Amino acid sequence: MSDDFDWEARYREDTAGWDFGEVVPALEDWLVDQPPVTGEVVVPGCGRGHEAAAVANKWPEAVVVGVDLSETAVREAQEGYIFPNLRYDTGDFFAASGKDDLVAIIEHTCFCAIPPELRPVYRDTAARRLRAGGLLIAVFYLHPEETEGDPDDGPPWGCSVPELNGLFDELFETLVSQVPARAFEGRKNRELFRVLRRR
Ligand SMILES: C[S@@+](CC[C@H](N)C(=O)[O-])C[C@H]1O[C@@H](n2cnc3c(N)ncnc32)[C@H](O)[C@@H]1O
Repeated sequence: MSDDFDWEARYREDTAGWDFGEVVPALEDWLVDQPPVTGEVVVPGCGRGHEAAAVANKWPEAVVVGVDLSETAVREAQEGYIFPNLRYDTGDFFAASGKDDLVAIIEHTCFCAIPPELRPVYRDTAARRLRAGGLLIAVFYLHPEETEGDPDDGPPWGCSVPELNGLFDELFETLVSQVPARAFEGRKNRELFRVLRRR
């Protein structure tokens, strides 16, 4: 898997094997007890839009924007989910310029989809776009120790807890860090749910 990986082709050919057709259970479970949120929320690498739709449905006072490089994924998201406070845009999460005032960013298998050398850029983009106190709500895909670094064991690249700590701790305070009770088939014990607050 390289940085010129053709995401668009995978959606067009309907071979997006990472897409389970519904919101990731860890996020769904966490949302249940959350109070209402107002402000703008971005979902980078939103794919067919399941997480963005779940958040828009739960937080009707928020404006939720899903962003993805793939035109096909964005079109399918737009056709699949319609809420007055939800929009899907084709675009590059890293390309947005200027300072935003986001109340939250929702991460699900975008961080593990970008080349690892871009992870600091992801962190800096999230930090810049969030308001102080804004939340990065993330389901991080992890490789278990025995397969970490195995390029054949995807979805594309995993990461380790020490790497996450080293990357995010300076700019973000960890409010929640837990192995989700529920996960998609094949992802059990391979995910880490974290809520990180922008310092
Ligand atoms: C493994 S898929 C996950 C999609 C979705 N989050 C899901 O779980 O179904 C990774 C997604 O990130 C998108 N992506 C990769 N780099 C991106 C970038 N720089 N900006 C926006 N989207 C990006 C890809 O097009 C792809 O849809």
